[in-house]
Amino acid sequence: MSNLAVVVLAAGEGTRMKSATPKVLHRISGLELLGHVLSTATSLSANHVVSVLRHERERLEGYVSAFYPQVSIALQDEIPGTGRAVEAALEQLAGFQGDVAVLSGDVPLLDVESISALVEIHRELGNQATLVSTILDNPHGYGRIVRDRGELLGIVEQKDATDDQREINEVNAGVYVFDAELLRQTLAKVGTNNSQGEKYLTDVIGMLIESGHKVSAHQITDQWLVAGINDRVQLSEVEAELNSRIVRAWQLAGVTIQEPASTWIDVTVSLGRDVTLLPGTRLHGFTTVGEGSVIGPDTTLTDVEVGENVRINRADATSSKIHSGANVGPFAFIRPGTELGADGKIGAFVETKNAQIGPGAKVPHLSYVGDASIGEGANIGAGTIFANYDGVNKHRTEIGKQARTGSGNVFVAPVKIGDGAYTAAGSTIRRDVEPGALALNPAAQKNLAGWVIQNRPGSKSAQAATDTE
Ligand code: UD1
Ligand code: MG
Repeated sequence: MSNLAVVVLAAGEGTRMKSATPKVLHRISGLELLGHVLSTATSLSANHVVSVLRHERERLEGYVSAFYPQVSIALQDEIPGTGRAVEAALEQLAGFQGDVAVLSGDVPLLDVESISALVEIHRELGNQATLVSTILDNPHGYGRIVRDRGELLGIVEQKDATDDQREINEVNAGVYVFDAELLRQTLAKVGTNNSQGEKYLTDVIGMLIESGHKVSAHQITDQWLVAGINDRVQLSEVEAELNSRIVRAWQLAGVTIQEPASTWIDVTVSLGRDVTLLPGTRLHGFTTVGEGSVIGPDTTLTDVEVGENVRINRADATSSKIHSGANVGPFAFIRPGTELGADGKIGAFVETKNAQIGPGAKVPHLSYVGDASIGEGANIGAGTIFANYDGVNKHRTEIGKQARTGSGNVFVAPVKIGDGAYTAAGSTIRRDVEPGALALNPAAQKNLAGWVIQNRPGSKSAQAATDTE
C-alpha cells in the first residue's frame, strides 16, 4: 500500500459570494461546503488529511476542529493562489513520501468513489500527476485543459486564456493527485506572473509535462461531481442537483415523494420504509421519520424525531419528538422541547414549546401550550392558553392523566390539575385542582333584559330583538 495524503484547499476569500460568511461555510443540503469535502476526504483511508486556511481563519479553524478533529490545519501566508495553499499543506506534511490528493473546498459533490478511482488510475498509469477534467457546455470561469492533437499540454485559467482557449470546453475540476516530492520541487519554481498575481497550482501540470513527466487528465462524464461553487447562483444550482440526488436515493430506498422539486432533504436526515412526503416538505438536520409516516404538504421539520405511522400536516417543528401514531396539524407550530406521546394529537392552530404531552393526550384546537406536562389520555379544550410567563420567570403547568379541561381555559402557571379532574369552559385556573374535582370559576352570568332596545335604538340588532318580542 502506498501512502496517501489529502489536502483540502479552503484558504480563499470567496469574493464572488459577496458574503460576510466565508464561501466554504455556506451550506448546501444542510452541510457546509467544506463539510461535504472534509467528509469525503476523511473517508478516503488516507494517512493524513490537511486543510489549508487563511481567510476568516479563526472561524474556519473552529469549524474544522469541532467537526473534523482528525484533520490537521495548515495556514497559508499572504502570497495568494492555490499553489501557495498547497505549499503550506506540504510544509505541514514535511517528510511525507507518496501520493498527495488535492481537493477544493468549493467542489462539494465529488465523492469518495471518484477520488479513489482517480488515485487508482494515477498509480496504475505510473503518473507523476493526474487531474480530473470534464466537458461543460458553459465552461466560463473554469481553467481550460489545453491539448495539442489530444496530447495534454497544461491548464490555462479563464482570466489568462486567449479567445481561442476560451472556446475549449474541457475544464479542470480542481482535483488532482501528485507525487509528493515532485509537487514540492515544482511548486518551488512556480511564479505569480499571471493576470491575478497568484501562485497557481495549475501551473504545476504544464511544468511537469514540459520536464518530461507523466501526467494525464481523467475525464469524468457526470459534470455535477466536479461543479465548483464561486457565487450564489452556482450555490443554488448545485444544491438543487444534490437535493434531487438525495430525493431519488430515498425514492429508490422505499420512500414515496410526490413532488421532488418542492421536497428538500438534508444529507443528515434519515427516513424509514413507506414514508410519504407530500409537496413542500423540508426535512433538516438530524430529523428521522419512522416507517409509514406521512409528512406534508408544506411542512418543515428541523431536528425532529418522528415515530412510525405519524401524520404531520402543514407544521413547522424544531428539536422535538413525535411518537408513533400521533397526529399533528394542520397549522401547528411545534417549538423546541415538545414531546408528543404515542397516538396523541396536536391539532389545528396549536403552538407548543417545552411541553410533554402524554400518550393519547390531545390538544386539538387553537391553543398555546408552553412549559407544561399533560398526562396520558387527557384532553385540552379548544382555545386554551397555558400562561407560563409572569413577565420575569417561566413556570410550569401540570395536567394529570385523563383530565378533561374546558374550552377557553387559562392555566396561570405554576398550577397543577389532578388526574381525572375537569375544568369548566371559560375558567381561569390559578389554584391547583385535586384529582377528580371539577374546577369552575367563571363569574356568574347576568343578563340585562331590554338593554339593546334601550341603548341601541334604531339599530339592526334592536330591530331584530323587537321582531322576536
Ligand atoms: C480553480 C482552478 C481552476 C479550476 C477551478 C475548479 C487554480 C488556479 N484554478 O479556480 O483551474 O477550473 O478551481 O473549480 O487553481 N484557495 C486557497 N488559497 C488561495 C486561493 C484559493 O486555499 O489563495 C482555495 C479556495 O478556498 C477554494 C479553492 O482553493 O476552495 C479554489 O479556489 P478558487 O478561487 O475558487 O479557484 P477557481 O477560480 O475556482
Ligand atoms: Mg472555485
